[in-house]
Formats: sequence, C-alpha cells, structure tokens
Amino acid sequence: MRIVLLGAPGSGKGTQAQRLVARFGVPQISTGDLLRSAVARGTPLGLKATAAMDAGALVSDEIVIAIIRERLGQMDVAGGYILDGFPRNLAQARSLASMLAAIGQPLDAVVLFNVDYGEITRRISGRRTCPNCGTIYNVHDAATPGITHCTSCAAGPALTQRPDDNEQTVTRRLAVYDEQTRPLIEHYRAQGLLRSVDAEGPVDEVTARLIAVLAPATAASRSAPMRKAKAKTKAKPKAKRKPKPKPKPKTKAKAKAKAKARGKARPKAKQRAKARLAPARKATRTSVRKTARKKARKGSRKSPRRG
Ligand code: AP5
Repeated sequence: MRIVLLGAPGSGKGTQAQRLVARFGVPQISTGDLLRSAVARGTPLGLKATAAMDAGALVSDEIVIAIIRERLGQMDVAGGYILDGFPRNLAQARSLASMLAAIGQPLDAVVLFNVDYGEITRRISGRRTCPNCGTIYNVHDAATPGITHCTSCAAGPALTQRPDDNEQTVTRRLAVYDEQTRPLIEHYRAQGLLRSVDAEGPVDEVTARLIAVLAPATAASRSAPMRKAKAKTKAKPKAKRKPKPKPKPKTKAKAKAKAKARGKARPKAKQRAKARLAPARKATRTSVRKTARKKARKGSRKSPRRG
C-alpha cells in the first residue's frame, strides 16, 4: 500500500497515519518528523531547515526531495508506506512520480483530509506530542483533557508543544497550504488517485471513514503480488528437457577396474573364447559318441547268433 495523506496543517494526518501504521504494518514517512529530528540533532540539513520551519514556510524542495529519496531507498518501505506531509507542491509531486516510475511502484491513492479552518486552529493550539514515542495528543480532546504526560509509552515523559504551533505561524502555514499545496488536489484528481475523507468528528470515526475510502486501494495492493505471481506462472515457458547424456563407451581398462572393484577379475580373452565355444564342442563330442554306438550296434547285428 503506497498512499499520500494530503491536508492542511492540523487536519489530523499524523494522528491517522499512526493508526494506519498499526493496522497495515507499513511505515509512516512524515517529512515534518524527519525535518524536526534533523533540527533536534543539529545536522547541517536541520540547520538549513530551521528558519523556514520556524516561519511556517516550506523548506526547499531540494532538501525535502533528498530526504524522501533516501527514505524510500530503505528496506522497510518495500511493502508500502504512508506519506504524511509530502508532496506539498507540484514540483515535489512530479519528483515523487518520477522516483516511483523508475522503480515501477506508483501510488495507490492520495487521501484528502477535509477540516474547517476554525477547527484546525483549535486543534493546533491544543496539540501536544510525546518526545519519546511520538504519540500525538490534544489538551482539548474529551478523552485527554489537559493531558501533560504521555500515557502510551513506559517512560511517560512530559508532553511537548511544537515551536511552530503558535497562532502567527499557523496563519502563515495555512496560507502556504492554500497557495502551494492545494493545487495538488486537482493534480491527483486528474490522475484518478484522489479520495476525500471528512476528517472532522471523533478520531475513531475518522479512522473508520479513512479505512473505507482506502479499501479499494488496499485490496488492489494486496492482490497485486498475487496477480504478478500468476502472470509469472502463465508466462513461464515450459522447461526444456535436458537431453540425456550419451553413455560413454566403456574402455577396457575402465571395465577391468570396475570388475576388480567388485571383486571379480575379468576373464581373459582366451577363457572367454573357450566359454563361447564350449556348447559347440560338447555337441560335437556327443555326436561322435552316438555314431560310435550306432556302428557297434550294426556290427553286433552282423555277427552269427549264439545258440
Ligand atoms: P508537518 O509536521 O508536516 O506539519 P503540517 O503539515 O503542518 O501538519 P501537522 O503536523 O501540523 O498536522 P497533522 O495534519 O499531522 O495533524 P495532527 O494529526 O498532528 O510540517 C511542519 C513543517 O515542516 C512545515 O511547516 C514545513 O516548514 C516543513 N515541511 C514538512 N514537510 C515539508 C515538505 N514536504 N516540503 C517543505 N517543507 C516541509 O493533529 C493535530 C492535532 O489535532 C493533534 O493535537 C491531534 O490530537 C488533534 N486531532 C487529530 N484528529 C482529530 C480529530 N478527529 N478530532 C479532534 N482532534 C483531532
């Protein structure tokens, strides 16, 4: 399953991606998370990205595409992935398409998260994240009101708030989304890849809707390996029978050695000839004896009878 989650900041892409990971067992690839990690480690890439992220602008295509190219080359994405926050403009979408075309693995679907901007501002202001396991919470969520510590991992550390989750930056991020990311909706619709989901309401309900719109894509990606295997079996030409190797003519020396190994010495030529002649000779001897007996009988008949 290779899918893209598309939507405004705070629309719930990260939250739902974590659920899809648990359900389908494919990794989530979030450019935002990868960039934040680079910033936290102080890598050269992270240093280059910091300014744009703090301002709520997009990090350069060059950096983001390089990150994605590297990530898609890793082993764990072989069975699919969930792209969260990438692509974010047409140039990124085209780069992704050519990367995937080169390996013959196109996207299965792009899901658009529809959420009202007023709700987005409320969600982003209440977002808190676990610095240890990355679980996303919200202090406004009825299930976790005012939550301060992670309840998902054993360490249970204090939750943190992203530096770009402030009112000013959020306004800028929404403007950038409208200007640069929104055109992707038409781009993917034209390719027949776009699915839309109502991303408002309880998280579980959004998950159920998401899984429903993804059903055809997941079914297709499940049957794709089977179709491939079937095609392979059909296309496979019948294996040609290997011609049997002609028996090698036995040389005398070889046959002798073989017989010796079996413990039987090969009879000498003279003996073999004798054995072949033996029945003939026997027959000759028998006929000589018969003629002698006949003669003897004839002789006895000719002699006078004794009284
Ligand atoms: P990124 O981290 O990608 O941020 P984003 O796209 O702005 O998205 P968010 O992470 O803010 O929101 P989300 O949709 O994941 O919502 P979430 O699930 O957390 O990018 C950050 C920055 O990195 C960018 O500004 C840019 O500078 C840079 N960047 C990243 N990718 C880039 C790229 N490709 N090119 C260039 N630059 C790039 O939910 C939000 C809150 O809502 C949470 O508290 C959650 O608990 C709550 N919530 C979720 N669902 C519900 C619900 N159904 N009901 C109530 N609350 C909910």
